Amino acid sequence: NSLKQTLAKVERKTKSVLFKIDSNFKITDVTGSFYEITGFRVEEFVGKGNGWVEIVYPDDYFRVQNNFSEMFHFPNLSKTFEYRIKKANGEIVWVETFVENVVDSRGKILYLDCITFDIDEQKQAEERLKSSQEEMRNLAMYFESLREEEKKKLAFEIHDELGHILTAMKLELSWVLKKKFLREEVLHEKLHKMIDMIDSMIRKVRSISSQLRPSVLDHFGITAAIEWQAKEFQKQTAIRCRLNLPKQEIQLSEAKSIVVFRVFQEILTNIARHANATRVDIHLDIEGNNLVLTVADNGKGIKPEDISAKKSLGIFGMKERARSVNGKLTISGVSNIGTTVTLTIPIN
Ligand SMILES: Nc1ncnc2c1ncn2[C@@H]1O[C@H](COP(=O)(O)OP(=O)(O)OP(=O)(O)O)[C@@H](O)[C@H]1O
Ligand SMILES: [Mg+2]
Repeated sequence: NSLKQTLAKVERKTKSVLFKIDSNFKITDVTGSFYEITGFRVEEFVGKGNGWVEIVYPDDYFRVQNNFSEMFHFPNLSKTFEYRIKKANGEIVWVETFVENVVDSRGKILYLDCITFDIDEQKQAEERLKSSQEEMRNLAMYFESLREEEKKKLAFEIHDELGHILTAMKLELSWVLKKKFLREEVLHEKLHKMIDMIDSMIRKVRSISSQLRPSVLDHFGITAAIEWQAKEFQKQTAIRCRLNLPKQEIQLSEAKSIVVFRVFQEILTNIARHANATRVDIHLDIEGNNLVLTVADNGKGIKPEDISAKKSLGIFGMKERARSVNGKLTISGVSNIGTTVTLTIPIN
């Protein structure tokens, strides 16, 4: 009897139910939180011909049924398994059952002793952890692929464009060297051509290094960086940018400046790739203790399902970047009117 008392104590603490299952899969001798776990009254079950497996969630039914059947075929077996049940109110919860078969003196299996725990909270916590780990993994992979993409682009520019100009200069110089007599005008012309090449090389080197690190950010602060990026974007895409920047300089930490700048770049990239817009309105402002960046395009308008889609890693990345500095990012779209992205970051 003291075992029963102990079990009763365990039972009260853990939200569990003890019962027997006979060879017809009917349940008998129920003690514990049957109603709390299943939502059914014990009387509705016992003796009414309902088996425990009837409340098992359909996807798990065969697995559970097989587990119990097996218990009637092999004496002295015990098992633990997890599955879902459908409660009386339709709610689906995870439970864990420990089951042991009880055998008579001749080895015949009489019935199964079961204890079932409600493990739904624990299971949900596990799921949350798993899905947040998965999100982190996706994000890490996404940033990795972004870095790879950037490196590829830079390698291409260095190899093809700088390499090309250097080869051309070498050819020009070899040509000059081979000439025994050269008219002054021709030499001048060649030298001018080479100066032009050097100029374009300087521009290229600047552009490559500013892609490696937004140096405007270091030297001139976030406002100038936004302005510079908007002008670059307008040059590259012919989408007109209207800028609305604060008069006074914004004092922002380096980490936050990089977040604002990278988010701004992703917003513009999305506009170029998806929006089909002809104009972009950019507002940068201070509101109270917050920096607020609003970018509105006049394109086709982002669809609600694209905003929250798990595969929308660009958007997910922007949100994560914002969150990493206690900020937040909101996106809204109106069909054929456009898309507005707002980034809010506390300054201090
Ligand atoms: N300004 C916009 N106008 C219209 N649709 C947009 C806009 N920005 C994003 N979208 C839609 O939202 C989707 C998700 O954007 P997101 O940046 O997350 O992914 P992506 O740009 O497709 O890929 P990447 O992961 O390379 O950024 C896009 O595929 C696009 O359909
Ligand atoms: Mg994107």
